[in-house]
Amino acid sequence: MKPVHVDLGPRSYDVLIGRGLLDQVGKQLKDKVKGPVVIIADQSIITLYATKVENSIREAGFHVFTLSVPSGERSKSSEEFSRLLSELAKRKVPRSGTIIAIGGGVIGDLAGFVAASYLRGITFIQVPTTLLAMVDSSVGGKTGINLPEGKNLVGAFYQPKLVVADLDTLKTLPSREFSAGMAEVIKYGAIKDEDEVLFDRVAKGVKPDNYDLDKIIENCVTIKADIVKNDEFETRGQRALLNFGHTLGHAIENASDYEYLHGEAIALGMLAATWLSTQAGLLPNEALTAMRNALAANDLPLYLRHSVNAGRILSALEKDKKIGPDGRVQWVLLEKIGKAKTGCTEVIEPDYAIDFLYKEAFKPKS
Ligand code: NAD
Ligand code: GLY
Repeated sequence: MKPVHVDLGPRSYDVLIGRGLLDQVGKQLKDKVKGPVVIIADQSIITLYATKVENSIREAGFHVFTLSVPSGERSKSSEEFSRLLSELAKRKVPRSGTIIAIGGGVIGDLAGFVAASYLRGITFIQVPTTLLAMVDSSVGGKTGINLPEGKNLVGAFYQPKLVVADLDTLKTLPSREFSAGMAEVIKYGAIKDEDEVLFDRVAKGVKPDNYDLDKIIENCVTIKADIVKNDEFETRGQRALLNFGHTLGHAIENASDYEYLHGEAIALGMLAATWLSTQAGLLPNEALTAMRNALAANDLPLYLRHSVNAGRILSALEKDKKIGPDGRVQWVLLEKIGKAKTGCTEVIEPDYAIDFLYKEAFKPKS
């Protein structure tokens, strides 16, 4: 498959999507980067995948070593960030060094921010091993960590030099994590897919062994590359499209103490934002049914557990980056499935949306 090119002038790069790519990482690095190479990997996939990548890099003639990071959202912390920076300093990694993130979005966001910060920035490469990271977090250069006060409150825009998405790694991904990644796939179908080809396909449900999974991932990465090309630093209103479902989603994720996976919380956020779009008169009710059915077909949640406290969600929302200067939530709403609109402040208060998610224990319509 042809790489997807992310066209950002001097910060341009390719996203390779395919199978059997891990063994080729070393070869890909030649002529692109200098050593030493530091792999920052999710501890649970080191023996499965990081060792393979490390061997291929060593065979390509680089000095390489691996730093392991505990799995899970809690690693996107200032403590883990400082620990990794200290490791690099202790091992005297020079400015010519390269960091490779191997894992899901947690590792990519954390390792990317380490790469952006260490010696004011060293070369960074992403090797995503979750569906979510392949279609979203490994592309576009958003890196960062969480604070106890909220998600992604500290970070940097820092583009990778290459992204290598090997679909073979998805064979070991737990099905709940695969579904969480599908939430971001559905997001692309909802925000920028006016002929609804992607949305119609994913609405049927997608499984890791589907023959067209590579095409689906390529479709998502192409949409993201196009949005990022036009608004790399989220200043022109376009990149904010990617925040569809994230306004409430991040707050739910934080208020649930990360019991909801990122993609699961985003699924709920998208459901609420679709409902708000109908309430604002932008969207017919059938679109809400279509969204609900697409989430159900991909085993995503359709209502919010009462154990997640509404007060905590509202307080997390207040600290979110997407609150406007007037203190109002900036919603991303749908004008139709496949077309979204950013910066909507005119709609109902967030507590109505939370109430909607508690009360509407949706069942998919057959
Ligand atoms: P994750 O990184 O926590 O990975 C999910 C789980 O899968 C982990 O337990 C991990 O150990 C395991 N895992 C990873 N690859 C595996 C494999 N191939 N086989 C078996 N297990 C595997 O979560 P995620 O869903 O990939 O990413 C979520 C994070 O991404 C959140 O922190 C979110 O904020 C961030 N994110 C960032 C962006 C961005 O633009 N930077 C976009 C979307 C999400
Ligand atoms: N995941 C949102 C963005 O990259 O802008």
